[in-house]
Amino acid sequence: MRLKVSRKAHFNAGHRLYRKDWSDEKNREVFGKCSNPNYHGHNYDLTVSVIGEVDPETGFVIDLKILKDLIVREVEEHFDHKNLNIEVPEFKSLNPTVENIAVVIYNRLKPFLEQYELEIKLYETPRNFVTYNGA
Ligand code: NI
Repeated sequence: MRLKVSRKAHFNAGHRLYRKDWSDEKNREVFGKCSNPNYHGHNYDLTVSVIGEVDPETGFVIDLKILKDLIVREVEEHFDHKNLNIEVPEFKSLNPTVENIAVVIYNRLKPFLEQYELEIKLYETPRNFVTYNGA
């Protein structure tokens, strides 16, 4: 039996979307309010899903306590209450769009979940979200 098991998490973070090689005007045109030079915050809602076989001995696909602790360590402690552009090394030269944040989260978690398929669903607002599964 192959199942998908999911754990929800949450973090708040600030960012600015912009390209250094573009003028302020072009950044405003492309990124709108998200290019505000003084940064702004979002409440990010995250769902991490792992897909795998049920272990007949435990009945688990994954011990959710292990998944919870992994998300706290690799995602929440890394992103929560941070300015993504300034304080998170992955975004030193990568625009912190919701797409890129989802990919960074995937890449941080995947080494610890090699035996599973992994799917990251990240909401930047209640209506805007992306899904990434490494493909
Ligand atoms: Ni924004």
